[in-house]
Amino acid sequence: MKDNEKELVDLDEEGNLQENEEKKDIKSNKKDYSFKIIATIIIGGIIILSCIFIGKKYVTMNHIELIVTDNYDEMSQKAGSIIAELVKKNPNAILGLATGSTPIGTYNELIKRYKNKDISFKNITTYNLDEYCDLNQNHPQSYFTYMYEHLFKHIDINLANTHIPKGEGDSELNSKNYENMLNKNKINLQILGVGGNGHIGFNEPGTHFDMGVHLVQLHNKTIRDNARFFENDINKVPKKAITMGIKNILNAETIVLMANGTNKADAIKNVMSGIVDINIPVTALNIHKGKVYIIVDKKAASKL
Ligand code: F6R
Repeated sequence: MKDNEKELVDLDEEGNLQENEEKKDIKSNKKDYSFKIIATIIIGGIIILSCIFIGKKYVTMNHIELIVTDNYDEMSQKAGSIIAELVKKNPNAILGLATGSTPIGTYNELIKRYKNKDISFKNITTYNLDEYCDLNQNHPQSYFTYMYEHLFKHIDINLANTHIPKGEGDSELNSKNYENMLNKNKINLQILGVGGNGHIGFNEPGTHFDMGVHLVQLHNKTIRDNARFFENDINKVPKKAITMGIKNILNAETIVLMANGTNKADAIKNVMSGIVDINIPVTALNIHKGKVYIIVDKKAASKL
């Protein structure tokens, strides 16, 4: 006989009616409890199956720190501070760099701090995310030229320690060589922008997250978006590029993703929702093992 039942039998000798009611209460509480467990299991199962069914996984995102700023300048300052702190702490750090319009303000911030003698890049190594194919590296719109003009020529970095994928020549061999270099040199901090369609690097929607450095065919939306750098003529925009894969990006210890403007609002809403979906490459950040900062202006945060 269980203890609580024994107690009820003892009490039964003193007053029948009251104690029988108590016994009933305990039994009905037990039933309620079992019902709640079964209901929780069924509802939980339905949620998990629905997630699998629609091909999206949901994860917890404790590693992501969202910083919403008033404007582009504040976004750039915040990102610049995070990078500068790392460079001060680890003067031999390896940085992963991005191009495009988003990080220009951040690079200006780093140049300012270098000129104020706050930081030095003397022993810093860099690896860029991507480069257009079939564009001479000295072309004004190559990412090689971009990096030199927007950052490298203004700071004390040793150019021999800067790396950008080679867009000309045998793309398979160039990808392999870049992959080997990345495998030997872990990136401490990777800077990212994001495309309107959620691409990171040139990893377009549908790219598997386990891909390393590879050749890509740019999507029409990306070609249209980038036409602004090629006299608004989509025929002048290269159609292929070499890019770090998402696997390489996720290898970085820390990631700093920046976004400004309303055309990035959907991408930011998607990554912050916690989904992991290969059709929205930026959502790969939800499965990153290290720290991720997502620094966005109010407009990019407008759909949160
Ligand atoms: C560039 C890169 C791209 C850009 C993205 C956003 O190296 O990797 O993924 O970050 O296309 O470009 P912007 O910043 O011009 O809006």
